[in-house]
Amino acid sequence: MSNSKVLVTGGAGYIGSHTCVQLLDAGHELVVLDNLSNSSPEALRRVQQITGKTLQFVEGDIRDRPLLDDLFANHSIDSVIHFAGLKAVGESVQQPLHYYQNNVAGTLTLCEAMAAHGVKKIVFSSSATVYGDPASVPITEDFPLSATNPYGRSKLHIEEMLRDFSVADQATNELSPWSIVLLRYFNPVGAHPSGQIGEDPNGIPNNLMPYISQVAVGKLEQLSVFGGDYDTVDGTGVRDYIHVVDLANGHLKALEKLDQPGSEGVSTYNLGTGNGYSVIQAVEAFEQASGRQVPYKIVGRRAGDIAACYAAPALAAKELNWHASLNIDDMCSDAWRWQSNNPDGYS
Ligand code: NAD
Ligand code: UFG
Repeated sequence: MSNSKVLVTGGAGYIGSHTCVQLLDAGHELVVLDNLSNSSPEALRRVQQITGKTLQFVEGDIRDRPLLDDLFANHSIDSVIHFAGLKAVGESVQQPLHYYQNNVAGTLTLCEAMAAHGVKKIVFSSSATVYGDPASVPITEDFPLSATNPYGRSKLHIEEMLRDFSVADQATNELSPWSIVLLRYFNPVGAHPSGQIGEDPNGIPNNLMPYISQVAVGKLEQLSVFGGDYDTVDGTGVRDYIHVVDLANGHLKALEKLDQPGSEGVSTYNLGTGNGYSVIQAVEAFEQASGRQVPYKIVGRRAGDIAACYAAPALAAKELNWHASLNIDDMCSDAWRWQSNNPDGYS
């Protein structure tokens, strides 16, 4: 694939930083735009240390149109990978305006600036949350879409907005139409095998894997397992955990697709392994990988949780030539290396 200059919004964050490593290794030039609202510049320093390559960092907000205009005027950007956004489900219920402002209005401002500067290739971070409570598993991309909270709705609104851009291009026979890839991530976990970059949540983690890691390292006492009476293998919730390095590779494949002739329009892919693991199975895999005990107790269900969610990943295999190659043991041992080397994250 030819090397190109990629704008990575949210590139200092968890998935963004891992994707920057893969992009630099593949020879791309990078400009990272991040307001550091949920990340540290240390992550980008380590990305450059891991790869031995440099990237350009612009500290700023995707809602800042003059800054975006300067950025596009000063760099000849070929395509955008758009990670920037807020992602905490509970917080989105308490602060919906903040979520719609950051995620929806932010993406709109970014796309307006892109169009004004003739950059119309974008890979967008969507989420399996857009499937709501699916009628069955595994989930294919044509399942009905619904969302149960403002975070999920912000992803749905953005997906719809991007589809509208493409429909308008078709209606007007636009000469340089949008090429858009929507990637619906399942549950990203794990860390770079170097142990230098990983997930660094603020405060007490909401998500399972970072919580388990912090119990294993002794920062938290025990895991509360939310619900033991689901209709699953052992009564606990089942999810499709995917190694963040596999996920990052999916973005390289998406970029390749954007560069192919005939990529105009919107393509949507699930990025998951296709395997579901229960909470108890995830705990056992982590104990095995870390050699530490992870005490837990089963408590009531968490509001809004679903029993089981895992991907049918065949479309990404067929059209992107992508599949996940790392398993739950790799996810746990890499998460553990990161957690034990960096008990306080980047700080
Ligand atoms: P993250 O919080 O680690 O990274 C997001 C980055 O965006 C952060 O560095 C943050 O500082 C930056 N940011 C936020 N708002 C911004 C703004 N207005 N302008 C500029 N920068 C801004 O999150 P992540 O886990 O790396 O997720 C990346 C993307 O993937 C997000 O869009 C998220 O919704 C999506 N996603 C994540 C998961 C997950 O479980 N981690 C699952 C599905 C989808
Ligand atoms: N869980 C526990 N205890 C915890 C945390 C989680 O038992 O302390 C359970 C949950 O009930 C669920 C499973 O572990 O059964 C996974 O929970 P996570 O919070 O890690 O992940 P979710 O599937 O609930 O949600 C995540 C992201 C969403 C995203 C979704 C799909 O948080 O933003 O994956 O990508 F939309």
